[in-house]
Amino acid sequence: MATLVENPLVREIQTRALKPAGPCAMVIFGITGDLSKRLLLPALYNLATHGLLSEHFALVGFALSDITEEKLRETLAGTIREACGSECNLETIRWLVSHLHYVSSDFETASGWQKLHAVLDQVEAAEDLAGNYLFYLATAPEFFLPLVRRLAAEKLLDESGGHWRRVIIEKPFGHDLASARALNAELLKVVQDDLLYRIDHYLGKETVQNILVFRFANGIFEPIWNRRYIDHIQITVAESVGVERRGRYYDHTGALRDMVPNHLAQLLALTAMEPPASFSATALQNEQVKVLEAVPPIRPEECVACVVRGQYTEGMVSETMVAGYREEPFVDPNSQTETYVALKMAVDNWRWAGVPFFMRTGKRLHKRNTQVVVQFRNAPLSLFRRTGALPPRPNSLVLGIQPDENICLEFEGKVPGPVLETTTVRMDFDYGRHFRVEHRTGYETLLYDAMLGDRSLFKRADMIEAGWSVIQPILDAWAAGRGGELDRYGAGSEGPQAAEDMIHTGGRAWRPF
Ligand code: BG6
Repeated sequence: MATLVENPLVREIQTRALKPAGPCAMVIFGITGDLSKRLLLPALYNLATHGLLSEHFALVGFALSDITEEKLRETLAGTIREACGSECNLETIRWLVSHLHYVSSDFETASGWQKLHAVLDQVEAAEDLAGNYLFYLATAPEFFLPLVRRLAAEKLLDESGGHWRRVIIEKPFGHDLASARALNAELLKVVQDDLLYRIDHYLGKETVQNILVFRFANGIFEPIWNRRYIDHIQITVAESVGVERRGRYYDHTGALRDMVPNHLAQLLALTAMEPPASFSATALQNEQVKVLEAVPPIRPEECVACVVRGQYTEGMVSETMVAGYREEPFVDPNSQTETYVALKMAVDNWRWAGVPFFMRTGKRLHKRNTQVVVQFRNAPLSLFRRTGALPPRPNSLVLGIQPDENICLEFEGKVPGPVLETTTVRMDFDYGRHFRVEHRTGYETLLYDAMLGDRSLFKRADMIEAGWSVIQPILDAWAAGRGGELDRYGAGSEGPQAAEDMIHTGGRAWRPF
């Protein structure tokens, strides 16, 4: 989606590779919710701007809100304008919202479904959509299964007419391993797996996809991408936002469930996976599952040493005083829910045996930053020790995911001058400087791929379950009261001290963010 300005060859490749998706109606359940407004509609607008939506396209919203179609069109046009800033193309927004239709109903009432059928017939006749429907479940998770059952019962998932039908399911997919397994099993009773597109929006991020390209389109990194050369790996997903209006959901979820089995497990899988035999969805997914399956379960007695959980108290974030977690709306004033978690994990296979993987994520940290740090082993001999130079620091490779989108290799260099002194210097690749990237939400590629039927960037049932398997022993230990204390950390800090202590035990340190 990004436009490369510096390399005409790549621009030509992009233009050649991209063609509009085929005709379809996209039905968004929960179109009046936050996800649709903030991300899905702006993503559809971006696709339309790049000519990647078919001219034969209709958007159908289905939600409880009692508003008129006209009002919804107006509201969504406004949110797209807001998201895209001053450069937005009003003509494209008009085109998009003029293709929007609305069914106002709860998800159970028969009349709502009758109206949906009628709208689909109407848009089919008007737009010639070849009978292709993409359903997007942008709803609370309790509606996922009832909606898919209902879609099946209404014969809306039947592909026997030669058209396609696909269902995109948002997270959270279950709230633990058992519920994720049960949800998968129940879904598969009514729909074939290849119609299901389970989303992890991290896979829509260019910098996340680039982990694959960086590792497997270059010959120089793969030979050293293993236990012989790598000391440890750090994965940080730091957020400066708090729980915002989601206190009710979050207080029953916590940072571990909210972020680790999906987004952090995804970053771990891409960083640690073996080269796939091909770039097919199956080959890619097979290798990612293998990584997660190689993570040995954390034993209950390890839960104190290898897991830190924290909760923010009030503090200053970006020069603004913010409330502590327990003071947030809809949060229990005595809540024990963690808003921060740090873990020490392993990947027990030939490539990674003995290499610790440290992961941390938290809300209300001092800034937003997602990065994967590959910390190499030290040079075998400190050759310059007699010159008075400081001992060299180990090399690191930092994959900046967001908001800094960059890749940086840090190595030691000579300080100019007659005395031999060394210092750490950086080689930087910066997406923003190299590519001119327009505003994008990360959902563009995912929606486009779903319309093309490419599942490479979606999660298979076993990937979701493998993600939950990684954290299930911790959930069990916590439920049995075997986790350590809940550490409080001030909003605007780098997280609880216990996370620093955890990594220091091995003589290592978190990379500041
Ligand atoms: C969501 C979590 O899946 O990811 C949120 O539910 C979190 O709590 C969000 O804030 C982070 O996404 P991003 O793209 O901002 O890193």
